[in-house]
Amino acid sequence: MARQRLTALLLAGPALCVAGAVALRQEAEPEPEVRLGGVIQPEDRLTQRMVSLGRGMFATQWTPDEGTLFNERRCIRCHIEPAVGGVRPQSTPTVMMRWDTGSISGTSNARRFRWVGGKPVAEAVTDTVVRRKSQPLFGIGQLELIPDSALLALADPTDKDGNGISGRMPKVSDGWGRFGWKSSFATLDGFVRDAYRVELGMDLYDEKLGPDRTLDQNQLDATTLFLRYLKQPPTVPRKGRGAELFAQLNCGSCHTPEHVTGKNAKFPELSGRTIRPYTDLLLHEMGDGPLHGEGKIAPQEVRTPPLWGIGYMSGPYLHDESATTLDQAIRGHGGEASASKSAYEKLPEGEQAALVKFIESL
Ligand code: HEC
Ligand code: HEC
Repeated sequence: MARQRLTALLLAGPALCVAGAVALRQEAEPEPEVRLGGVIQPEDRLTQRMVSLGRGMFATQWTPDEGTLFNERRCIRCHIEPAVGGVRPQSTPTVMMRWDTGSISGTSNARRFRWVGGKPVAEAVTDTVVRRKSQPLFGIGQLELIPDSALLALADPTDKDGNGISGRMPKVSDGWGRFGWKSSFATLDGFVRDAYRVELGMDLYDEKLGPDRTLDQNQLDATTLFLRYLKQPPTVPRKGRGAELFAQLNCGSCHTPEHVTGKNAKFPELSGRTIRPYTDLLLHEMGDGPLHGEGKIAPQEVRTPPLWGIGYMSGPYLHDESATTLDQAIRGHGGEASASKSAYEKLPEGEQAALVKFIESL
């Protein structure tokens, strides 16, 4: 088990309190009901215990040993805004990625720190790097339970129906990829282990790792279970003009409003639920821009992000943080979404605002 310093745990305290304070402030607002964050309570006692252990793992500030390369020392540095499981606060430096032809997603983290003499020392980042937006994790366990078959049925890699929108799921190391901006993992187990490795410089036992950087399987499983049980954003989509425009402009061809989760006996609370995440979890060609990619994922391909809860998150938006506002995010679409984007640009301002208001309510 990796060592945690007591100070680390003490430091984790205030961050959690801050998240709590945000939730409280939100509760005081009249409508809609905005209790973002928290977990769906598992019925099984052991699962409950694992989920709370996982919550601790997600918040723990680790002190990796000398020589470790890392981006941050705890998960919540980039997944806390506006509640635990959210995105990077604007005060935290952005994640930078560098080109890497050996990686499925085409890039790998440009490491920001190395641990030297008990202090984190900044690494020089010399290569050309791109920004990478962290993603909110609310409801992610239910996204994992949408059956592959349901998503593959939405895919149309050769655009047989000729509507200009294709969409595909890549085969990756652990199945049909659906997580991350480049669909690099099929399972949360796969993504979480990779997050420990690339963000915190920690992994399951390997003789090259010191004891301080070694996790046991139980710790990994607990972290994953905590994320699985994170509640989806509690939203009530607006009706009216914005919703009509969303349909008319074909936004829903990629931001698929509704899915039903599959059955999994291990997670009965997450099974067979109707959810409204507004994503097809497929990769789409999004046109030119500061994109990247190698190997099996084309440079222009980006996975459709879920839009649920986006109204709670402040920008920047898009995978490379290139949009400050939701209006800019829509204008930043291209490639397969070109027709939707130009239709949006042609709308009168009032209609554009109605669509943005609708997105904010999802
Ligand atoms: C330095 C910032 C940073 C830290 C620390 C961090 N993440 Fe992330 N997280 C990101 C970014 C950036 C992405 C988007 C990654 C991508 O697609 O390339 C992401 C994506 C994810 C996703 C996939 C979300 C989706 O919708 O597919 C999961 C799961 C996740 N992180 C879990 C974790 C866990 C667990 C930890 C701690 C072990 C962690 N993250 C620590 C920045 C961070
Ligand atoms: C061809 C599929 C497709 C269509 C059609 C489409 N989108 Fe998207 N959308 C995406 C993808 C993929 C991304 C991520 C792009 C990126 O990060 O560069 C995205 C990103 C977004 C974002 C930013 C989300 C975030 O977390 O940063 C918003 C908002 C959005 N879309 C709204 C819309 C609206 C409104 C429409 C209709 C006018 C629309 N989209 C049409 C695929 C699509």
